[in-house]
Formats: sequence, C-alpha cells, structure tokens
Amino acid sequence: MLPLVLELGAIIQMDTVVWKLKLLKAGAAHANSQLNAVQAEVLFLASGNENLPPSGEVDRLFKTMKNCKVRYFRNRGDRLLMEDGFNLLAVIKGANMYRRGRQRESVKDFLPPTISEFNRTFGEDFKLFHQLLSPVMLSTMKNGKIVRGLAGVPDKGPVLFVGYHQLLAMELSSLVEGFLREKKTIVRTAAHPVFFAGNYETLRQELSLFDPFSMYAAAPVSPINMYKLFERNEFVLLYPGGVREALHRKGEGYRLFWPDQAEFVRMAARFGATVVPFGCVGEDDFLEIILDYNDEKNIPYLRDGIKSFNEDFTGIRDTVKGEDGNQVLHLPAFLPKVPGRLYFLFGKPIEMNGMENVLTDRKNANQVYLQIKSEVESAVSYLKRKRNEDPYRSITRRAFYQATWGPSAQVPTFEP
Ligand SMILES: *[C@@H]1O[C@H](CO)[C@@H](O)[C@H](O)[C@H]1NC(C)=O
Repeated sequence: MLPLVLELGAIIQMDTVVWKLKLLKAGAAHANSQLNAVQAEVLFLASGNENLPPSGEVDRLFKTMKNCKVRYFRNRGDRLLMEDGFNLLAVIKGANMYRRGRQRESVKDFLPPTISEFNRTFGEDFKLFHQLLSPVMLSTMKNGKIVRGLAGVPDKGPVLFVGYHQLLAMELSSLVEGFLREKKTIVRTAAHPVFFAGNYETLRQELSLFDPFSMYAAAPVSPINMYKLFERNEFVLLYPGGVREALHRKGEGYRLFWPDQAEFVRMAARFGATVVPFGCVGEDDFLEIILDYNDEKNIPYLRDGIKSFNEDFTGIRDTVKGEDGNQVLHLPAFLPKVPGRLYFLFGKPIEMNGMENVLTDRKNANQVYLQIKSEVESAVSYLKRKRNEDPYRSITRRAFYQATWGPSAQVPTFEP
C-alpha cells in the first residue's frame, strides 16, 4: 500500500491518513472481538487465484464463527460473482442453505435444478463417471412386458421407489439423471442425515462432496419428511436397507438388509401412492472390497475414527436389532476393476390406492411388504442373469461402439 499512501499524501494531509488507518484498526479489532457472538448462518465464498480473502483468514473465520460454512473456489479470482459460469444460487442450494422461512425445511425449501445446473452436473462433473457406468434402464409395463427406458414408470406422483442400495450408493446419480433426462421428473431421495449435518464440513472445499445430494433433492429420511413428500405428490426414493446395504461387507453383495416391519407400506397406502420396486446390479463389475467394516473395526486407529464420526447419528434404524441393523458410517477400502455396466429394472407398479385393508390390518401390510421385497430380489436376479447376454457389458466393447456411432449414441444392450 505504501506507494499509494505516498501519492495520497500529496492530496490529503498525512495526519488524516494516519488517523484513518488507526480508525480502521480499532474498528477491525472491535469486529473481530464480536465475531464469535454472531448467530446468523454465514456462507463464505473464498477464491484461490487472487488469494482473497488472504490465506489463513478464511480458516480463522471458520473457526471463530459458530454457524458458518466455507466454499473454496481454487481456480477462480476475486470477482467470483461476476465470473462466467459461477452460479451463486447453485452454491447456496448445494450448501443446504436456501430457505424461505426462519428455519430451513428440506422438503418445502427445495428448488429444482435448472437446466444449466443439470448441464453442469451431468454434462461436466459427472460426465466421465456416467460414461464409465453406461447405465441401462428397464421398466415393466402394466401387462408385465419389460422395455428399455422408463415408460413403465407412472408419470404422476406420489410414487415410492424402493430398491437395493448398491455399494457406495454408486447407482444414485445415474438414477436421478435418468429420471430428469427421460421423464423430466426429480426423484427425491430419502437420505441418511449425514448429508445434512455439519460433520463433513471441512475447510477449503469447492463444492463439498455431498453438495450434489442436496442440489438433487435429497431430504433427510424420517416419517415426517416422507409424509410431506407424499402430500406433495412427489417421486420418492427409499432404501429400506440404508447404509447397511450401501456399505456392506465382503461377500454380501445383492443381499437385502431390510427391517422386519413394514415401515413404509402403510404410509404409502394412506396417500394412495404407487410403489415401484426396483433392482439394480453392477457393483461387482466395478469394485472389489478389500477392507470392510469387520476388518476396520479391528484396526484401533480406524475404529476410533469411525466411532467418533458416528456419535451424532444414533437411532436411525433402531427397529432392527443386531448386526443386520448396523448403520455405522465408515468407508470400506476397495480396488477398482475393469469397468462393466450398471443395470436397473423397475418392476410393475403396485397401486396402493384403495388398499384400505393395509391400513387396518398389520398382517396385510406385512404381506404387501414381503411381496415388494421379493420383487426387488427377483429384479436383481433377472439383471444378474440377463447381463451375461449383453454384448456391451464390458467397457472395451462400448468404447468401440461409441467410436463408431458417436459419443451420444445409445449403446444397445440385451434383448429384455
Ligand atoms: C444444456 O445442454 C444442452 C445439450 O448439450 C444444450 O442444448 C442446452 O443449450 C444447454 N442449456 C443450458 C441452459 O445450458
């Protein structure tokens, strides 16, 4: 600043400059001493290129202020808001901070993604991932015929999808994209509360790993949120097996860990929702688990980390006792394989409208629940069997096909 100050000195009195600098210093000291009293939600946007705010400053603010999040844009300059392609609303939505009232309400305060957000997520951020997975989506028509695409899935909500949760939830983004692309419908995932908690907030991240979940309509899983979603005729995605399925152990692929009680059937019946059971396969064609929870809990350092991370998330699934209900969050270690392909089969829709007997009779509800569960299992075994007939299951054949027909051509699959 010195050259500037000297120049200024020719215009204004040096005394004035000194006085102003002192004032600034005192003001800054006062503001700093009050920062930890700020109750409001704060979102800091920091940029990397011009180092603004100065490095270290964001860290200090993050530690001082009670209720703040930081999104760090490594490759952007100091005029962040004016830069091309920077979308402030997308950042706010991703950070779970968009709200209309005093409190954020995850069902009501959701704003659907815009086309440019969709393009950014699925045309850039997730593009490679999706090319790798090359998802095949099949659905079942009313007459039982299986077709490629989502024609068998109802167009009107409320719809409840229930299905198998693959390792690391690898199917989730493909499912959300598929419905947006083909049906222009947003599927609202009933997700583990970890995605909305502060625990994963760490310093200096661009979009947090979990921001896309919030942008693409996840809401914390709870009976009250399910109620609100059905009331609004939404398309809701529920994984009864939850984290226990998505973070399963070695040798447990495609096994359902569903609770004994029919948790969702009665609510679906009350709202006359249509239940669509679905299966998906592919995880064993992409990943091999090297360290699972059973291994990790025997490693003291990892065990302590897992324990402390999970302290805030007890009681999510306390209806299932023992190891089968164990919803502990941890990260299994895995090795990638030569990529195969991801397949979905949406089963025949089950209309719950008029199923009053399910509401009054627990036995009936349980029967419907078991039927849904067995349809998920048969969808999984259908796909496991049929994918052997897919000439394009392996990435090498697909790459060859796309080299011939262009990257946007739909790669064929087995005859359903
Ligand atoms: C989104 O992507 C499509 C296809 O690439 C393009 O035609 C469209 O103009 C894009 N829309 C926006 C708003 O970016």
